[in-house]
Amino acid sequence: MQPILDFRSVSKVFYKGDTRVHALSNVTTRVEPGELLAIVGPSGCGKSTLLNLTAGLMEPGVGEVLYQGKPISGVNTHVSYVTQRDNLLPWRTVEANVLLPFELGPRSNVSSSERRDRARKYIELVGLKGFEKHYPAELSGGMRKRAQLARSLVYEPDVLLMDEPFGALDAQLRLMLQAELLKTWEGSGKTLILVTHDLTEAISLADRVIVMSARPGRIRTVQRIELPRPRDVFTIRFVPEFGEYFENLWAALREDMHQGAEV
Ligand SMILES: Nc1ncnc2c1ncn2[C@@H]1O[C@H](COP(=O)(O)OP(=O)(O)OP(=O)(O)O)[C@@H](O)[C@H]1O
Ligand SMILES: [Mg+2]
Repeated sequence: MQPILDFRSVSKVFYKGDTRVHALSNVTTRVEPGELLAIVGPSGCGKSTLLNLTAGLMEPGVGEVLYQGKPISGVNTHVSYVTQRDNLLPWRTVEANVLLPFELGPRSNVSSSERRDRARKYIELVGLKGFEKHYPAELSGGMRKRAQLARSLVYEPDVLLMDEPFGALDAQLRLMLQAELLKTWEGSGKTLILVTHDLTEAISLADRVIVMSARPGRIRTVQRIELPRPRDVFTIRFVPEFGEYFENLWAALREDMHQGAEV
């Protein structure tokens, strides 16, 4: 099967004045259509950079990223992206923010009633019913994150990129949204790449977890997660294999944790 995404010896260096930051080094991996891939690694190891490359927001210095066999050039309209930083438009309500993807790119042919139906469905799914007419400034941090999530789901893209989507949320809400995400994703055939700091989240959700090294980010370990689906995020952490996965991944991750403390 042709991979939907193909990272081939990708390296990325950022220059600013005399400073040179080597963010990614020789990253090679393939993502299968319909796969749920989680990426974990110390702060500053290039996780967001990998997503930015996938979204076509920047280009690799060395190597290439292919989408369905073709190098990504310019913004990749097949993906939607929940960025790490909140990028809701402050002058638009929740509902108008969620509807934004229909005004851009290839989904603009969706009818207005279908747009409204989908907006309603996803706003409800993320628990923001009743807040449709609120502006981002009137929401909590976690609510803004949820609005962003609804906006990326409404697009029903082939590939969903999520950068720490649940980071700002309390533990219970996090679990609820993980469960909703799995329900939406399982059986959808969509590809999902999730960056997270949370190993439990990575194992609970993913088919495969990549552990990156400290900067320059390389792939340190790849762990396939063979837990059966559908999964119940509330209980899956109690199955015996879960502990083994956790130990393996933690062993890989901890080697770099002290280096991750730098900015
Ligand atoms: N647009 C940019 N211009 C210059 N340097 C950048 C840019 N984007 C990222 N970097 C640098 O590249 C390195 C990797 O950044 P990136 O945001 O990908 O890390 P990360 O793994 O997502 O970290 P975190 O877990 O803290 O979000 C960092 O040192 C960062 O300063
Ligand atoms: Mg990041």
